[in-house]
Amino acid sequence: MLVGSTKITKGTSDGRMLMDMRERAARDPNRFWAEQASLLEWFRSWDEVLYWNPPFAKWFINGLINASYNALDRHTPSKGDKVAIYWQGEDDDERRSITYRDMHREVNRVANALKGLGLRKGDRVTIYMPMVPELPIAMLACSRIGVIHSVVFSGFSAGALADRLNDSRSRLIITADGYYRRGKVINLKDNVDSALNACKSVEHIIILKRLIDGSSNASSSKGRSDVPYIDWHDIVDDQDANCEPEMVESNEPLFILYTSGTTGKPKGIVHSTGGYLTYANATFRWIFGIRDEDVYFCTADIGWVTGHSYVVYAPMLNATTIIMYEGTPDYPSVHRWFELIERYKATIFYTTPTALRMLMRYNIEYAKAHNLSSLRLLGTVGEPINPEVWLWYYKVVGEERCPIVDTWWQTETGAAMIANAAGIELLPMKPGSASIPLPGIDAVVVDDDGNEVRGEKGYLIVKRPWPGLMLTIWGDDERYKQVYWSRFSNAYYSADYAIVDEDGYFWLLGRADEVLKVAGHRLGTMEVESAIVAHQAVAEAAVIGKADAIKGEGIVVFVVPKQGYADYNELRVSIMKHVENTLGPIARPEQIYFVGKLPKTRSGKIMRRVLKAIVNNAQIGDTTTLEDEASIDEVRRIYEEFKKVTG
Ligand code: WTA
Repeated sequence: MLVGSTKITKGTSDGRMLMDMRERAARDPNRFWAEQASLLEWFRSWDEVLYWNPPFAKWFINGLINASYNALDRHTPSKGDKVAIYWQGEDDDERRSITYRDMHREVNRVANALKGLGLRKGDRVTIYMPMVPELPIAMLACSRIGVIHSVVFSGFSAGALADRLNDSRSRLIITADGYYRRGKVINLKDNVDSALNACKSVEHIIILKRLIDGSSNASSSKGRSDVPYIDWHDIVDDQDANCEPEMVESNEPLFILYTSGTTGKPKGIVHSTGGYLTYANATFRWIFGIRDEDVYFCTADIGWVTGHSYVVYAPMLNATTIIMYEGTPDYPSVHRWFELIERYKATIFYTTPTALRMLMRYNIEYAKAHNLSSLRLLGTVGEPINPEVWLWYYKVVGEERCPIVDTWWQTETGAAMIANAAGIELLPMKPGSASIPLPGIDAVVVDDDGNEVRGEKGYLIVKRPWPGLMLTIWGDDERYKQVYWSRFSNAYYSADYAIVDEDGYFWLLGRADEVLKVAGHRLGTMEVESAIVAHQAVAEAAVIGKADAIKGEGIVVFVVPKQGYADYNELRVSIMKHVENTLGPIARPEQIYFVGKLPKTRSGKIMRRVLKAIVNNAQIGDTTTLEDEASIDEVRRIYEEFKKVTG
């Protein structure tokens, strides 16, 4: 396994301060985490720092806290006029600046509106909104009254929305009529309408009219006629701008966020209030060394975990000014993000390798085309970053002035786990490595038997709980135990491959399970497969990831069609459409191949490994358990022929 050897050192630090902090955390973790928790304001302090009943961790027991209070009320007396959000719509003329005082007022009003609808602590609200300021406002409003939010990425389809609504049994949906993407109107209300038919728990819908021409018929429902759409402004604007924050016990859930696993059913990752906030806050400070004057631009959509932790919660806990953009990085042009950095004098820019690979392809000297001198720190998240992309980022965007922090983490971990803690002390950077675990994080790489290994590929595990660790999977403690805590005894299994080098640096090598990372978005192969087999013409399907120069991975599908379907071109289009409708455009396959048979083991399991090797031009490896060698040849032949035709 090749790991890079380039090392870039900035400054004169010897890493001693960071190492001391790590040692202190390892010596007395409870004391260390209590110090981090004390950075927040609690209505009542905890009785016990950690109750560890493996694999369930409870942090800051009986401590009472409120997320929105910590994110807003703490700042409004002294920093009420500070900008919380610089918002930019896709249309350049659409701009908003929202102060911390504005945020406080709107959050309180929405919280009162939710109360008026009868929502109480512990109820679930699904938020299905584009990147508009009302999305974080809605999240914080939920947290103000102890309601658990479940944000569903606005790029997900009606089917994905319905699954998540039903699993969480949400009483309310907060949505928007639509939004703009690459100049087109994306209608969200139609998705809500069709999801609604299958969702009995929903009692109300609040809808924000985001579309400028208001052409959508936002108040009537084509879904369930007993569930009216209530206009956001009608229900919010006249509310009292004060709503007492609910005192929430530290271990009560703050939110559920669904993510893909190895089965067809997404997992509702449940995060606590006190532990999660403590961890998001601490890591944000350690990694970015956030300062009052910073203007921080994290490009993640709030529908994913990076948006939860590092667009909404951690920045707001620190009264940080953030930049929020509605659209995609390449619309109206590939200059968009850089225009925003220049316009608002961003100091920190945090994005994904996929976006960087896409921007790099245009070969633009952004630093020459824009004044990027305000930037002081760059970050990446979500996928391994190739060293050449890292170096491009470093030179072209950071002008060799800004360090890059590569942050490894997962929806389940709440916030970053392995990252160069530039806010404490920057270690030498190695392009392609996320560097070393943060203080208090006991991460190691082990072999199949659980023995720690160095210089060798293995599984990344974490041996001790930390405050950001998920509480459980919503409604399924057993699955939580199985997925994360059964592979190795008493350790959290990340399902990521990694290698630790001679300096103790971690190199992340992708997923060890059937989870794909398509443009940084997490998708399960089984999830896509179950969507595909639901198509009337499909008998069987196998989904695999194919290396993609920009997106990291692309989805490739092998389909065994049912008898009587002969027009493969038509079928291909129809299956593509079907997947988009069921899951959303992010799950759209790059290619679909039709075969008579899939390679399977004698016990009938599809050998995705074989298919993956074929499309990635890799060694097929051991096929002794294979039921029928002929199917490999057929798959290979079809794949090669198709490649010839399409070039
Ligand atoms: C991958 C995103 C390499 C990894 C925050 C993990 C990374 C999955 C990195 C979680 C990184 C995340 N380097 N790989 N810096 N960050 N990953 O839940 O495979 O959307 O398991 O959380 O992304 O994806 P998720």
